[in-house]
Amino acid sequence: MTARSTLSQDELKTLVGQAALQYVVPGEIVGVGTGSTVNKFIDALATVKDSIRGAVSSSEASTARLRALGIAVFDANEVASLSVYIDGADEIDGQGYMVKGGGAALTREKIVAALARRFVCIADESKRVKTLGAFPLPVEVIPMAAAQIARRFAALGGQATLRLKNGQPLVTDNGQHILDVRGLAIADPLAFESDVNQWPGVVTVGVFAHQKAQVCLLGTTAGVQTLHF
Ligand code: 5RP
Repeated sequence: MTARSTLSQDELKTLVGQAALQYVVPGEIVGVGTGSTVNKFIDALATVKDSIRGAVSSSEASTARLRALGIAVFDANEVASLSVYIDGADEIDGQGYMVKGGGAALTREKIVAALARRFVCIADESKRVKTLGAFPLPVEVIPMAAAQIARRFAALGGQATLRLKNGQPLVTDNGQHILDVRGLAIADPLAFESDVNQWPGVVTVGVFAHQKAQVCLLGTTAGVQTLHF
């Protein structure tokens, strides 16, 4: 597919959202992520809704959009496995490792991704990085552990701030809070994810290394590039 050099970021998101339809398996349930790029995918999915059974969703926001478009949403507990999970990313590196959680849905995203045999990341080219960490790393935490976890990140050189919404701590779909951690350069994403996951009070760290992407559909001014990892 070719694209004009004037495509906006929103148009690039539309392109990759539509391109992801090629990974949707007819007759099956598809795993659906969260975010503005995934919203483009959901809109595209609605055009083929009669050919699929439905979706497992990673957030209340995606569930509402899927249902509004007439796509059945299954509980993750009803599904033993999925062929594919399609989601965006805040950063993706050359190995398919990602930072996610800009939309605060990282925990459910990781749960649905773990059900899937293939993670297809859809992203515009601004998300491609050499090293993860320039985007503030989202970490979902149990509220009473937030300060303790922030101190542990400070010891690693990171500055953690509590994510706010309308002046109050943002509450996730799971009833927890989000820390955004600046100043990290994540050289070994697999080890980092394993380590931070052990800290008491961490629900989910937004490094997706153990649940990495196998494919990335990257929206560029030259068209959609397909990267395999
Ligand atoms: C939500 C996510 C999103 O996939 C990520 O923030 C990218 O979002 P967008 O497509 O809006 O840029 O992880 O928790």
